[in-house]
Amino acid sequence: MGHNPDGVCAQRIRALLHTRALGRVLTVLCETASTNAELRARECAVHGETVIARRQTAGRGRLGRRFESPEGGLYLSVMLRGYAEPGQVTIRAAAAVHRAVLSVCALRCSIKWVNDLLLDGRKVCGILTEGVCSPQTGRLTGAVCGIGLNVGAVFEPPLDKTAGSLPAGVDKNALAAAVLCELERCLDEPFDAVLRYYRAHCPMAGQDVTVRPSGLPPYEARVEGIDDEGRLVVVRGGQRQALSSGEVSLHRED
Ligand code: BTN
Repeated sequence: MGHNPDGVCAQRIRALLHTRALGRVLTVLCETASTNAELRARECAVHGETVIARRQTAGRGRLGRRFESPEGGLYLSVMLRGYAEPGQVTIRAAAAVHRAVLSVCALRCSIKWVNDLLLDGRKVCGILTEGVCSPQTGRLTGAVCGIGLNVGAVFEPPLDKTAGSLPAGVDKNALAAAVLCELERCLDEPFDAVLRYYRAHCPMAGQDVTVRPSGLPPYEARVEGIDDEGRLVVVRGGQRQALSSGEVSLHRED
């Protein structure tokens, strides 16, 4: 059997895991359409059940976008059952991945509200949290938190201005285990403590942005900060608004 020392391997991840629930049921697939879709289709998936793929053929991003997921990256989804605050999951996950990248790769990303991690201003990680409903009752039964990290990827112009990657050679098994450990910790922590960490690594306050609310025309605003519910507070024409979703692009990126 071929052995790929750089490859994601369930046995190695298990050996590094110190979690109570996350990743205790773990499947590593060579390929799947989307780890989020795979896990959402598992009606009996338990809390913490995790699917990791070496590549995705139809990786999903926020706002219906595609998430390019070639071999080499780390694509991981976790089932969260009975979690009281599904609306906080993406913020908690961003803080968790930030901590994991810092501890495993010794790299300090910045967080771009709400769900992106940037390295030198380029996106290296995206997070997509999706609700899961019972097909019988239609009621919400959980949430799947999907995390995609670019590793060793090289982007051609013009994408190379906005898309970045963790270096090739990152230990993806250590990174996957650290993401799961930190995610469990960030889900358990009081939200104000998570927000303190998130704000400290999300340097958007004072920046000019374009806000693209879904279905409405874009507008310019200045970021004031992140409120206690994790919403982005922007000021537009003297009026303060708290955004809980939507797309925001930084002007400084140009
Ligand atoms: C975004 O940046 O818009 C979110 C991207 C989320 C991608 C991850 S990769 C693992 C999981 N499976 C998916 O299909 N999407 C998420």
